[in-house]
Amino acid sequence: EDVAYNNMCKEHNHLMETLPKGHGWRVQYIYNYKGFWLNPNTIKSNLLLHTYFKSHTTDIFLATFPKAGTTWLKSLMFSTLNRHHHAFSDHPLHHHGPQSAFPILDVESYPITDFTTNFSDVPRLFNTHFPYTLLPACMDACKFVYVCRDPKDVLISKWHFVSKLRSKDLPPLTLDKAIELFQQGVSEYGPFWEHVLSYWRASLESPDKILFLKYEELKKQPEVEVKKLAAFMGKPFTMEEEKKGVVGEIVKLCSFKNLSNLEVNKTGVDKFANVAVIETKNFFRKGEIGDWKNYLSEEMKERIDRITDEKLQGSGLTL
Ligand code: A3P
Repeated sequence: EDVAYNNMCKEHNHLMETLPKGHGWRVQYIYNYKGFWLNPNTIKSNLLLHTYFKSHTTDIFLATFPKAGTTWLKSLMFSTLNRHHHAFSDHPLHHHGPQSAFPILDVESYPITDFTTNFSDVPRLFNTHFPYTLLPACMDACKFVYVCRDPKDVLISKWHFVSKLRSKDLPPLTLDKAIELFQQGVSEYGPFWEHVLSYWRASLESPDKILFLKYEELKKQPEVEVKKLAAFMGKPFTMEEEKKGVVGEIVKLCSFKNLSNLEVNKTGVDKFANVAVIETKNFFRKGEIGDWKNYLSEEMKERIDRITDEKLQGSGLTL
């Protein structure tokens, strides 16, 4: 195993010396790895994933571009799947930040912890921000829930998030710079559009394996979407549960209003493997559709919309 790890480290060092470098958001530089911009640690985690991760066919992954609704979907998937184990009056989500509901693969470091521990549950739930094309082939057999969101809201959400977490040794990232970089696709896990398309295409090929959701639809008709989610995860709501209002309970539990007002989410911290600690409150900002209107000029809006139209043209997907 150490041999495998040493080889992996050599490969990582080689990549750091040879990959194209771009302006980072949280860290100074990000690197273009197989068409996507990632920070150095994340590239290492990707190599670890390919070297060590053994998927089970029953695994279910939540895949997102950061800021598209990860926190929300984590809460919804966890509470929907485990609804028979926990009462809504005293639920784990009342006491633990949603990020802790299940681990993210992208921050794994060596020795491996999250890939292997903590799982008596079937199915296992994991989160990833990697585009579909950067995942190991063994994961093709698994199910994915992908959630996408208006790129203009993603951009604004990400800029706020990064402004809080960006290394204090670096000059602040101005909104203008963030907009320019985002449009060029230069942001962690970007380009945004290629990320979305990687899952969209996979979902067209295997609709039973990949459930493609939109943040905006979830906002507009949460109960409809949560029912889709439950059925997809193999735990459809029974007529009796629907009559008892279980779907509504889950929607309420996981709502922005409810989660963002919990003490644990106001004052707690989320630990990501042994790599990062982030104050939970940073994952809750506004939780609305269209906050970009408060930040982007008409011209900026049109430029981003034009990119979106061009990139998604002919795909059958609209955002
Ligand atoms: P805003 O910054 O636009 O408010 P992620 O979880 O992928 O990091 O995305 C964070 C975004 O989702 C933030 O968007 C955050 O406020 C919003 N969010 C977090 N929890 C939510 C919830 N329960 N319902 C709706 N939006 C939520």
